[in-house]
Amino acid sequence: MTSILVLHGPNLNALGRRDRHHYGVVTLEEINRRIAERADTLGVSVECFQSNHEGALVDKLQERSGSIDGVVINAGALTHYGLSLKDALTDAAVPVVEVHLSNIHAREEWRRRSVLADTALGQIAGLGWRGYTAALEALVGIINDQST
Ligand code: DQA
Repeated sequence: MTSILVLHGPNLNALGRRDRHHYGVVTLEEINRRIAERADTLGVSVECFQSNHEGALVDKLQERSGSIDGVVINAGALTHYGLSLKDALTDAAVPVVEVHLSNIHAREEWRRRSVLADTALGQIAGLGWRGYTAALEALVGIINDQST
């Protein structure tokens, strides 16, 4: 069965409480539930993992490397400077889709640059929690295309 790892970076555990204007009111737990629901419909297995620590995200990628088929990642602020996370994504050697709840291109200048973007197949930004399920759907479709 196709296996997808969903990674959430720093501060995303506070969704629902933090900056609702940019990130909405839905909690991370609820987002993970919606992701799992969509994974069921798509017939894939999904593991969601959040950490406030870059090294923990790197550890998780290394642990799962070899047993996952793709990654959906919202790296939070690590998006803008997380080079060890970028390396770990490259080393995982599976397709990656980058997600942001807010439209990072319509915010402060420093948010516009993603150091992960060139490691990813593509990026979804500004669609709120729906970006995750859209990313999962696109990623699974692309993986299925490659295996046929
Ligand atoms: C974010 C955007 C980042 O700039 C920010 O640091 C986050 C969340 C988003 O989902 O819009 O923590 O990745």
